Amino acid sequence: MEMMNDAPAAALADPQTFIRDEAHDQWRHLRAYRPVAWTPEPDGPGFWSVTRHGDGERVLRETSLFSSFEGTTLEANRWEDDPAAGKMLPLMTAPTHGELRRILLPYFSGRRLAALETEAAAFVGGLVEDCAAQGRFEVTDMLGTRIPTHIAFGLLGLPESDEAALLPTVRDTLSCDEEARTIADAELLLYIADVVDQRRRRPGDDAISAVVSAQLSVGKLEDEAVLLTVLNLMTAGLTTTRLAITGALHALITHEAQWRWLQTQPEVPGSAVEECLRWTSPAAAVVRTASGDAELGGQRVRIGQRIAVWIPSLNRDESVFDNAGHLRLDRSPNRHLGFGTGVHACLGMVLARLELRLLLDTIRRRWKHLESAGPVERLGSLVLQGIDRLPVRVASA
Ligand code: HEM
Repeated sequence: MEMMNDAPAAALADPQTFIRDEAHDQWRHLRAYRPVAWTPEPDGPGFWSVTRHGDGERVLRETSLFSSFEGTTLEANRWEDDPAAGKMLPLMTAPTHGELRRILLPYFSGRRLAALETEAAAFVGGLVEDCAAQGRFEVTDMLGTRIPTHIAFGLLGLPESDEAALLPTVRDTLSCDEEARTIADAELLLYIADVVDQRRRRPGDDAISAVVSAQLSVGKLEDEAVLLTVLNLMTAGLTTTRLAITGALHALITHEAQWRWLQTQPEVPGSAVEECLRWTSPAAAVVRTASGDAELGGQRVRIGQRIAVWIPSLNRDESVFDNAGHLRLDRSPNRHLGFGTGVHACLGMVLARLELRLLLDTIRRRWKHLESAGPVERLGSLVLQGIDRLPVRVASA
């Protein structure tokens, strides 16, 4: 009987499901038959999987019952308390979270970003030309890593001279090779620790200096929280946007009519950017911990249990999106939850949208043809999902 089939939920705890691109099959099954499903873990206590848009939206919004304090990924807070609990923006709770977020918001606002746009457009234009000159290249290396890194450097006021040297590290923070990932995480932490030190000595008008000097009702942030918050500000935007970029190009290759349509538009419609975000949904399981017993989608969730909100599944919920399994760049309305929702909704969404719009706009004007040039490799992670390697061939317009 469908109701008793535990396999689809259990498959979600296995990274191989993501490498083999089978997660959407499991999510579709769960949305239909077990929208809130207990998911056993081979090396952990297990968690609830939430796959419908409505339930997921509720979990993300009800912060008093579903807390992010103890961690927001399935990697954290498995058996023991996470040492980072409460120490970076996504893991902070009221009132500290709101106070720090209000201090940081201006640095990620449309106005701030407008000042970066001309330079960013020129940078993206140069990269897209380089790609066309190469003819055949790998998207994550050439675009997915470089664009978000360059823009993060500009936004955070980091020295341009460090950018090229840091690219391989940034590339490896999200890698299929676990050892490379561990080394890259450590290198990035060291780099950030150095930057934080410099900003303590010479503060500037940037988000890092704002974290260092933030005066909250609890006082200043302790050193470890400053470091983790700044590290999070940097990495949150790099890996997610990279997956959105690589995933968007893959979507255009596999939906040729949509690519042709985009090329005929006078400019990139906002709907195309939103549909790429819905389609790629880089954030996979966004996790909360129940701070009390709760009823959720007909199940009893107990205090202390973890709840994984599977964002890519919410974004393909057939009851919210017409033809949910089809890419439609003119989709409207599009209530995707790719950036989460509620008080922890993505701080960098204006930036991520800008990066995608610039890229789509440049390639649709400068590339005539875009096609696959080899097998795609996907990440095996429950935290972020998407394409790690995408070899392509392009021809200039
Ligand atoms: C396509 C790209 C991106 C996606 C899909 C994405 C997705 C998300 C999601 C789903 C959340 C909510 C997490 C939760 O509720 O626990 C989030 C939060 C956050 N994102 Fe993004 N993000 C993207 C780009 C960026 C960028 C460019 C930045 C720039 C720094 C950024 C910084 C953050 C921060 C700081 C938070 C925590 C906000 C808070 O807790 O108040 N993200 N993001």
